[in-house]
Amino acid sequence: MKLPIYLYGHPVLRKVSEPIDLSAYDGLSQLVDDMFETMYASDGCGLAAPQIGRNDRIVVIDADVLKDSYPECAGRRLVLINPEVEVLDGDPVRRSEGCLSLPGLSEDVERVEHIRLDWTGLDGVSHSEEMSGFLSRIVQHECDHLEGKVYMDHVSGTRRMLLHSKLRGIVEGKVSCGYRVVSAPKKRK
Ligand code: NI
Repeated sequence: MKLPIYLYGHPVLRKVSEPIDLSAYDGLSQLVDDMFETMYASDGCGLAAPQIGRNDRIVVIDADVLKDSYPECAGRRLVLINPEVEVLDGDPVRRSEGCLSLPGLSEDVERVEHIRLDWTGLDGVSHSEEMSGFLSRIVQHECDHLEGKVYMDHVSGTRRMLLHSKLRGIVEGKVSCGYRVVSAPKKRK
């Protein structure tokens, strides 16, 4: 089942998400299926649970679509439960990013190149892997969502000023995109 995507400005995107207890979480595999379906239907390559309105530490990624430009993405379809990112090194690299919660925008973002990612899979198995390149970037972007951050937080204040009216439009739900969305609750004047 496709789920609506929560837009920039909604408070659910600003909360720190809770760790998951795999054995006690009802309907987790169905939820993960729904997250993949939602992500594919909106042409995304990653989706974090806050983006479908849940403050739980769950991320889905399918980066295979980017393999022609970024070979490290080939075949990488991941379910990350309780992921932890450790920065390994590196000079920050600038590349363009977008986000399903900010339709119609993409901006250059600086991120480190190399990380170590620890996570649990849907089957309860623990994983630990070094990642680099664009795969590392996707993971950092999605794990930011679990900390209540979005990529726009990494964009300079001057640049954000220039985007102000577009960002305002998203906050007010004035977007046209090919998927269902939930915009921020209206503020009382
Ligand atoms: Ni995002």
